[in-house]
Amino acid sequence: MQFDSDASTPEGALEDATTRATQLRAEINRANRLYYIEDAPELDDAEWDARMQELLALEEAHPELKTPDSPTQRVGAPPSPGFDEVVHPVPMLSLGNVFDEDGFRAWYKRALDFLELESAPMVCELKIDGLALAITYRVGVMERAATRGDGERGEDVTANVRTIRSVPLKLEGPPEEIPPVVELRGEVFLPNSKFSELNIEREAAEIPAYVNPRNAASGSLRQLDSTETAKRPLDMFFYALGYVEGAESPSSHWDTLQAINKWGGRKNEWTRKANTVEEVMAAIANAGEVRESLDYGIDGVVIKIDSLSLQSRLGFVGRDPRWAIAYKFPAEQAETTLKAIHVNVGRTGALTPWAELEPVIVGGVTVGRATLHNKDEIARKDFREGDRVVIQRAGDVIPQVVEVAAKNQRPDDSQPYEFPDACPSCGTETVQTEDEAVTRCVNGACPAQFERLLEHFASRGALDIEGLGERVSQDLPRLGFVSNIADVYRLHERREDLLELEKMGETRVDNLLKAIEASRSQPLSKLLFALGIPGIGSESAEWLSRRFHSLTGVKDATEEELLAIDGIGPIVASTLTDYFSVEQNRQLVDDLIELGVNPIDDTPEPSADHPANGVTFVVTGRLETMSRSEAQNRIKSLGGKATGSVTKKTNYLVAGAEAGSKLEKAQRLDVRVINESMFIAFMEYGEVPVRPETDS
Ligand code: IVH
Repeated sequence: MQFDSDASTPEGALEDATTRATQLRAEINRANRLYYIEDAPELDDAEWDARMQELLALEEAHPELKTPDSPTQRVGAPPSPGFDEVVHPVPMLSLGNVFDEDGFRAWYKRALDFLELESAPMVCELKIDGLALAITYRVGVMERAATRGDGERGEDVTANVRTIRSVPLKLEGPPEEIPPVVELRGEVFLPNSKFSELNIEREAAEIPAYVNPRNAASGSLRQLDSTETAKRPLDMFFYALGYVEGAESPSSHWDTLQAINKWGGRKNEWTRKANTVEEVMAAIANAGEVRESLDYGIDGVVIKIDSLSLQSRLGFVGRDPRWAIAYKFPAEQAETTLKAIHVNVGRTGALTPWAELEPVIVGGVTVGRATLHNKDEIARKDFREGDRVVIQRAGDVIPQVVEVAAKNQRPDDSQPYEFPDACPSCGTETVQTEDEAVTRCVNGACPAQFERLLEHFASRGALDIEGLGERVSQDLPRLGFVSNIADVYRLHERREDLLELEKMGETRVDNLLKAIEASRSQPLSKLLFALGIPGIGSESAEWLSRRFHSLTGVKDATEEELLAIDGIGPIVASTLTDYFSVEQNRQLVDDLIELGVNPIDDTPEPSADHPANGVTFVVTGRLETMSRSEAQNRIKSLGGKATGSVTKKTNYLVAGAEAGSKLEKAQRLDVRVINESMFIAFMEYGEVPVRPETDS
């Protein structure tokens, strides 16, 4: 039936439209489920398309019919200016690794010893090489999707995740079987076949190709414009519940997977139960065999203790659960020809050699470049241009050249490689200090170093200027647009010239200028990190920011003041003062300030009279009202120390829910344990309330 938009009365039209929209949604949802989750399509593409077009037209004509869970919402929302931060109510943790049977046996034995059990049933899952996502559903409707981020805080990518067909916008099943609030977790990935297609398109459009499907998935998920994400065929497998509110959780991991599947979340079909080490090893062997035939990357098998009550007893060690482990496949190797050895100059002048290879597929990814580490490594392994070499790639790691495959088959004229003794960019003689494996160009005005610095300045962990990536960071200095960092903030004066550049175009130029403008409001700590001052990482940049409040403050800091900062040692203190003793660097700071790039950190000084001043805390477990990092920041802002492990010197352990080994250790060492409300009281009023029965 086709919807008749000429119904006689407006009310009648709306009624018909509502019925038809509901029907179309149900049909499309069912078709999606059959296609994406059950792999048994019922509608062909044209039939599916016709329904979608009709629903789109209906919603266009009656916007009040649009619902957030309508399948039309998968086509993407308008661009958003960035992603909001999401604090994960339950942190998203990582997994420990083992690499062989002995390692696995040892892990299983530790778990059983901890539980004082003879055996514990397990579930084996493929370890999907993608990105973890946490998706919250409220009364069955998708509310928010967040990336893992650092595990505590991720990015809100809801608009983009809505475009992924295998992610239900609405959970299926009888309402009484759907928890009022539930967070589903899993791995999003880009199928290998789609990855190749995407790269072919990108190369044709002269956009840099993605190095592997995982990066492509991450890039696709982090598109600011979700209509762009909608064009990328991302896919997802679910493997856990983050949390459930208002309903009972299943009692085992296996049952959790069944429940998720019933709600319309796809689980990976390979998943299997195992009761013994032998069964797990057989499953791993099988995963190794099927690996090549899968259309997605896996880098191992995840083994989980099935019972959720045993899982909660086992708890965590650091960021890794004791109840799960990743068995990683060995690095994949391949043989190819080392065509040439090149040398890159890094931001701090370090010369890193890399190998240009005859492209070869390793672990499903085409590799044409690999790192050679440093000068000494080349000499030790005697790598020469023209050699047949063995290369390897393990998961995320940059491909490496392992060894020469057949030294005896070298042609007679093969010569040992001579590492350049001059910088390939500026020609300055290089130096290698005795205690360092690194060869450096020490010319502060070296163009290659500046290009790298610019790229770092704009990178995500620094000022996050989208559009100022590797290529533009090379082009701008080479074409005379920027010769120091401050020039970045003068680029808007040269918009017309920028428009003349090849491959730039109006949108790109304006987006770049907009992103530069936006970077002015980044916090001082990010700016300090972005400047690429030797020895200043993102953490020390935060300390400097909080202590000195402004660029001028940091510029004029004395070595003595620097040394007084907890965490800053003599080496960093002197490199920093050295850096600011160079006239050009002082000038750079002045120029930035003059150009209006002068963020101020007005976090209040730790008050010396708060009783938390100088007191050492460890925060563990899940807190209800704040994340652990918030608690730690609170401690630091009052002059206390927040450390990671419990020792005799720890004054208080703040224990949230599911506090594991740290709680045990604190009890063993007689460290005072306080709960979250006692902690809050301490922070607010400077006193820890006494709990009569348990706390004396
Ligand atoms: S469970 C606390 N299961 O691996 C345990 N993770 O190395 C949380 N991953 O961040 C993870 N496939 O992104 C789990 N079947 C699977 C997985 C899986 C891939 C990823 C996930 C996680 C990372 C940890």
